[in-house]
Amino acid sequence: MKHERLKQNYPFYLANEAKSPNQDLEVTDKYSGKVVTRVAMAGVDTIESAIAAATDAAKPMARLAPYQRKAILEHCVRRFEERAEELAAVLRIEAGKPIKDSRGEVTRLIETFQIAAHEAVRDPQGEVLNLELGERTKGYRGMFKRVPIGPCSFISPFNFPLNLTAHKVAPAIAAGCPFVLKPASRTPLGALIIGEVLAETELPEGAFSILPCKREGADLFTEDERLKLLSFTGSPDVGWKLKSKAGKKKVILELGGNAVCIVDDGADLEDAVSRVVTGAFYQSGQSCISVQRILVHESVADAFTKKLVAETEKLKAGDPADEDVFVGPIISKSEAERIEEWIRRAKEAGGKILCGGGRKDAVVEPTLMSGVPKDQPLQSEEVFGPVAVIDRFSHFDEALEMANDSRYGIHAGVFTPRIDHAMKAWDELEVGGVLINEMPSWRVDNLPYGGVKDSGLGREGPRYAIEDMTEIRSLVIRSN
Ligand code: SIN
Repeated sequence: MKHERLKQNYPFYLANEAKSPNQDLEVTDKYSGKVVTRVAMAGVDTIESAIAAATDAAKPMARLAPYQRKAILEHCVRRFEERAEELAAVLRIEAGKPIKDSRGEVTRLIETFQIAAHEAVRDPQGEVLNLELGERTKGYRGMFKRVPIGPCSFISPFNFPLNLTAHKVAPAIAAGCPFVLKPASRTPLGALIIGEVLAETELPEGAFSILPCKREGADLFTEDERLKLLSFTGSPDVGWKLKSKAGKKKVILELGGNAVCIVDDGADLEDAVSRVVTGAFYQSGQSCISVQRILVHESVADAFTKKLVAETEKLKAGDPADEDVFVGPIISKSEAERIEEWIRRAKEAGGKILCGGGRKDAVVEPTLMSGVPKDQPLQSEEVFGPVAVIDRFSHFDEALEMANDSRYGIHAGVFTPRIDHAMKAWDELEVGGVLINEMPSWRVDNLPYGGVKDSGLGREGPRYAIEDMTEIRSLVIRSN
């Protein structure tokens, strides 16, 4: 295993500057389990200073002209392009993400910054309103623009260390908001390299801080009243708890899911199988929109399942540095053990393992099961691992009901040749997005993205995040 691209240690960023007061956080290679580098950790005082600096930076950030914000974002795009292979190697090591997926995430990081650069200067930036609704308001003109909400607090997850950080940072710059960011402790490097690139730009002093930290410090990201918005991506339990402590802040939550994929009568089975196999197992199922529940019409269930099992058995699991590996390690051995335990419980409750089911260290085999009872966590909770369960349905309405029988809802995929079924799915599925003839795990970064029910609040995608990071300020002019 080569680690030559990692530095021996990484600083954190306090008010735009790299600082290394300690090397307290160990970062491991998620495949070998070995410590590969160390990162500086922020204590409460440092986080206090970062929030104070972000508060002072609110006016200078708001005064940056749109073309200046765009230029900063475009600088990042150029630097990420130049450093693409290094970034992919970092992801592969710190997240255990197969190298092909790591390169894919770097491409998406670049796209997210490009989209935000475009949004920074997009027309229109407000609206002209008709206020002349009667005699009382004759001669009044109205308009509004959007103004930055102020300092923002971001907490990013381990599964997409670059791109899900980009979905908070890039819109903040486009909107003119300073921010403090806490990256996931298990995968802080991606965010810190984004910080290294931001430190090369003309962002006003104090505009950003990127601070891996311990539990005590983390509370400030949620509770400090100087921060006007909290955007959290991570587990549902943590996310909803944070919301209850966030005080007057606007809160955006991107949480978990147990995404459904419906395969209807008449669907193109070859196509559906090739997409479902990707959706269920890419980056070891550690995506909030990974395919977890597969519902297949009874007329095609046997044929579909046979093909899906055959394709799943071809997937190579193991070392993420191997170009042919599709399924790398889970983020930690203990999480891999938890997934193995859920498979064991589902089997004990009557479920049948169609393929996979095993584990070696942190690598869980891609696993398909059928006949898993509804009350099993593999059905009702988010597995966040390479495991999917298959069930049958007789009528499309029944499939929609089964799909909605979940406390989660981010994306759902529906493979169907029928436009009426596609429209009905769009009308009735309780999710943030419906994908027709595509896996739920598909995402392009300008799409409004987020969940309903326990899966979250609000939408990401730079345009929608910018709406959250800005407030409407109206103007009324009396001219009579
Ligand atoms: C997520 O896990 O919520 C993000 C999925 C993605 O961006 O593809």
